[in-house]
Amino acid sequence: MIYLDNAATTMHKPQEVIEAVVAAMSSMGNAGRGVNDASLSASRIIYDTREKICRMVGGTDPRQVVFTCNSTESLNIAIRGLLKPGDHVITTMLEHNSVLRPLYDLEAKGTSLTIVRSDRKGNFNIEDIKEAVRPETRMIVCTNGSNLTGNYVDLKPIGEFAREKGILFVVDASQTAGVFPIDVEDMKIDVLCFTGHKGLLGPQGTGGMYVREGVMVQSLKAGGTGVQTYSKTQPVQMPTALEAGTLNGHGIAGLHAALEYIEKYGMDNIRAREQELMWRFYEGVKDIENVTVYGDFGTKRRCAIVTLNIGDYDSSEVSDELLTEYGISTRSGGHCAPLMHEALGTVEQGAVRFSFSHFNTDEEVDAAIKAVQDLARDEE
Ligand code: ALA
Repeated sequence: MIYLDNAATTMHKPQEVIEAVVAAMSSMGNAGRGVNDASLSASRIIYDTREKICRMVGGTDPRQVVFTCNSTESLNIAIRGLLKPGDHVITTMLEHNSVLRPLYDLEAKGTSLTIVRSDRKGNFNIEDIKEAVRPETRMIVCTNGSNLTGNYVDLKPIGEFAREKGILFVVDASQTAGVFPIDVEDMKIDVLCFTGHKGLLGPQGTGGMYVREGVMVQSLKAGGTGVQTYSKTQPVQMPTALEAGTLNGHGIAGLHAALEYIEKYGMDNIRAREQELMWRFYEGVKDIENVTVYGDFGTKRRCAIVTLNIGDYDSSEVSDELLTEYGISTRSGGHCAPLMHEALGTVEQGAVRFSFSHFNTDEEVDAAIKAVQDLARDEE
């Protein structure tokens, strides 16, 4: 199979990641729950992973790195743990349901919501965010990269504006963490939410958030922490405040190895290779008759995603044919990004997304171009 669904999850993991998970499964105790070697080594690897993440995102203190299961959990904690009825929050049409659904839920309970519009290329205008601000605006939440079009969002101007106005800035880095440089201090990000299984090349079920020092997020859960057992309330110290229950230590051991791999291989090298593959594919399909490519390709900085449709052919059927006839895995349909499809005019048809990893080859990309050419010809 030619796997071009890396925006959903990177299926090819470095061998070191697989080995680290397997090793942890036969040696890892429960971090912070004992003084035996197995528990202490779990604590060490988890703390070391916090340090690596903290360094990668330009944080100031590894204790501000919280582990969760994925971006969805991180975004739920950030959104629900910081907003209350009466607050106003601003987001964009580029967002995934992991941002939109918690916001709709809070809207029904009295938080007001503004969603800034996207144009047909999948971009929004920061001026629309500025104009939407009200005295009660508490948060701006937006993605760093659209999971549908691959358009990259320049965070720094938004962060600077938010900080100047005293508004919290929450970022969904699902499509960019591990691939694009992120600096929470420089970009003025208050909460950065990430998943471990996409660009970070770690196992599914890993993810987290970096919370700026001094930002107090209300925990959505309470429970065992291994410390302050006799207190009736959840400890307020980070990261314990947001980490009740046993962590996914086996997964975090894999994430640790993945971070080591990224450090060794070089994030810039990974991104450069992904970009090469993405542009190769884009150049190969953009002028095919009957093919519509979505998103903004007029900018150099974008995620390694190319999303398209062939005529008015249903996107799921195209994706099925790519798989059954050509052995190519893509993702079709709505991609959990309903408003982005609305902006692109693809709510009914959906779209076929090709997303690349540095493990893909030129030959795989060329086979995918050839498959799109064939299907577009058949459709005429
Ligand atoms: N959010 C993931 C995607 O875009 C699963 O496919």
